[in-house]
Amino acid sequence: MTAMKWFYSFLKKHNRKMFLGLVLVTIISVLAIVKPIVSGSIVDDVITAGHYELLPSLIALLLIITLLRGVLRYWSQVIFETCSQDVLFSMRDTVYRKLLQEDFNFYNKKRTGDLLSRQTGDMDAIRHFIAFVIYQVYENVFLFFFALIMIFTVSWRLAICMCIVLPFALLVTLSQTKAGRPRFQKIREQFSSLNTFVQENVSGNRVVKAFSKEDYEIGKFNKENDAYRDAELAAAEIWTKYVPQFEFLSNMLTIILMLVGSIMVIQGSMTLGNYVTINGYLWMLMNPLRQIGWRINDIQRFTTSVEKIYATYSEEPNVKRPPKGVKCPKLNGDIEFRNVSYSADDEDIIHNVSFKVKSGQTVGILGNTGSGKSTIMNLLCRFYDVTDGEVLVDGRNVKDLDLYNLRQNIGMAMQDVFLFSDTVEGNIAYSKPDCPFEDVKRAAVMADADDFISQMPDGYDTIVGERGVGLSGGQKQRISLARALLKEPSILILDDTTSAVDMETESYIQKQLNSIGHKCTIFVVAYRISSIKDSDLILVLNDGRIVEQGTHDELLKNNGYYATVFRHQYGEFEKYVKELEKGGAADGTK
Ligand SMILES: Nc1ncnc2c1ncn2[C@@H]1O[C@H](COP(=O)(O)OP(=O)(O)OP(=O)(O)O)[C@@H](O)[C@H]1O
Ligand SMILES: [Mg+2]
Repeated sequence: MTAMKWFYSFLKKHNRKMFLGLVLVTIISVLAIVKPIVSGSIVDDVITAGHYELLPSLIALLLIITLLRGVLRYWSQVIFETCSQDVLFSMRDTVYRKLLQEDFNFYNKKRTGDLLSRQTGDMDAIRHFIAFVIYQVYENVFLFFFALIMIFTVSWRLAICMCIVLPFALLVTLSQTKAGRPRFQKIREQFSSLNTFVQENVSGNRVVKAFSKEDYEIGKFNKENDAYRDAELAAAEIWTKYVPQFEFLSNMLTIILMLVGSIMVIQGSMTLGNYVTINGYLWMLMNPLRQIGWRINDIQRFTTSVEKIYATYSEEPNVKRPPKGVKCPKLNGDIEFRNVSYSADDEDIIHNVSFKVKSGQTVGILGNTGSGKSTIMNLLCRFYDVTDGEVLVDGRNVKDLDLYNLRQNIGMAMQDVFLFSDTVEGNIAYSKPDCPFEDVKRAAVMADADDFISQMPDGYDTIVGERGVGLSGGQKQRISLARALLKEPSILILDDTTSAVDMETESYIQKQLNSIGHKCTIFVVAYRISSIKDSDLILVLNDGRIVEQGTHDELLKNNGYYATVFRHQYGEFEKYVKELEKGGAADGTK
C-alpha cells in the first residue's frame, strides 16, 4: 500500500459527505457567474436600452444569490471541517494503536520527538488539506474552466486569446512542484529534530542542571532553531519566487481583456455589456492563477506529512502476536529456557542459556553489569524474540501463547522505574484500575510502601508525575513493586527492584514475597547476595552465558564467581566455610 492509498482508506469513509460538500461548492461557483451576467444586463438592458423597470428585479436577484451563496458556503465549511476532524480522529487512533503494538526494538531506535511530531504537526497538515485545500483546489479549477467556457459563449476570439496564459501557468506549476518537494521534506525533518531536542532537554533537565550545561544546551538549541528557520525560509523562497509569477500571469489576463476587448468593442464585434460581463468573469480566472502557488505549497506539506506518518505506521513489530495464540487465563508459572541465544544488531547478547524453574520457585539472577540479566527477563516477556532456542512457559513455547495473555500473567517491576502522571493509587492500580482500595493498600504494605505513602500530603491521592518527581529512588522502586504485586501474577519479575532500598527494607520485602498467597514463580535480578541467597535456583551470568547455577550453598562450595562476590560483600567467607564444614548454619548473613 502506498502512503496516499493509506490516507484515502480513511477519507473514503467520508466519501458521501465530501461529495455533498463538493456539490455545494459547485453550486456556489455556478451562482458566482450570475453576478457578471446581471452586471452586463444592467449596462446593456437598463442603462443603454433604458429598461429601468428591470433594475429592482436584477438587484433582488443579486441579493438572493448573495444570501444563498453565504448559506451554502457555511454548510460546506461545516461539512469539510467535520470530515477533516473525523478523518484525523480515526487516523490518530489507528497510528496510536499501532505505536502501542510496536516492540522494544522500535522504541529503542525511534526518537520520542519524531513520534510526537507525527501525531501533532504532521496530523495538522492533513487536517488543513481536508478542511481547506481539497475544496479550494476544486473550486478554483472549476471556476477557472467554467469562466473560460462562459467567456467562450460570449466571445470565443477573446477566450482563445486568454488561453495563451495556460501553457505558461502549467510550466510554472510543474517547476514549483519540483523545486518545493525536497524543501518540504527538510522542514518535516527539522521540525522533528527540534521537537526531539526540546523533549529530551525537558526530560533530561536535571542532568543539564547538575552539569551546569545550560549555555551549552542553549547553543545546541539555537543550532536546531536556526536549522528549522532555515528550512522554513528555504521553502518560503519557493513561494516568494513562484507566487509573483502566477500574479504576473493573472494580470496578463486583464491586459489581454483591455487590449483585445477594447479593440473588439471599438470595431463593434462585441457589445459594451459583453465587455463588462467578461470583466466580471476575470476574477474567476485570475484568482485561481494567483492561488496556485499557495495551494501547491499546501499540497506538498500534506504529501510529505502523509508519507512521514505512513513510514512510521507501516513499520511492523518483530515480536508478533500469534493469530491463534493459546489463551490461558491463569498460567501455572513453570519456565524453561532451552538453548536460548539472542543477538541484536549483529551483536551476540545471550549465548545458549538453559535452565528450568518449577512453578512457585524463586530464581535469583546475579551477574556483572551488561551480562544480560534484563535481556533474559525481556525474552521471557517476549519484549524481544529469541534468535535461537526456545523459551517455554507451562511447557509451551512463548511464541505460541497469546502475547497479551502471557504478559497479563507476568508482573514486572522494571529496572528503569517509570511512574505515570497520576496519583500513587492510580500508579499502583495500573493493572486493575477498578480494584478496591484495600487491594492497593495491601500491595503497598507488601512492598513496604504504605508507611511513606501515608505520610505524603495527600496520601494515596498524591500526584507523583511522570518521573515520580518528589520521590526518592527507593520509594519509586517500592511503588513499582506494589504495582507488580497488585496484579497477582503467576510470574513475578523484580529487575534490580530493591537496589535502592536499605537492607532492612529489603529483608522485610523478601519476607512479604515469601508469604504471597498465590502460587507465583519469582525472578529476582540483583547485585546483592542478600537479595537472592534464599532462592531455589541462582543463575550467575557473565557475558551473556550462565557460568554457574545452583543454590546458595552449592555455589559457595563451587568457589567460583558467586563465592567471590559473596566474599567481597560479606568478607567472612573463610569463617563461613569453616562453619559449613562443621555442619553449622549455611547462612553467612546471620
Ligand atoms: N535491544 C538491544 N540491542 C542491542 N544491544 C542490546 C539490546 N539489549 C541489550 N543490549 C546489550 O546487551 C547487553 C546486556 O544488556 P542487559 O540490559 O541485559 O544487561 P544487564 O545484565 O541487565 O545489566 P545491568 O546489570 O547493568 O542492568 C548489554 O551490553 C547491552 O548493551
Ligand atoms: Mg539490567
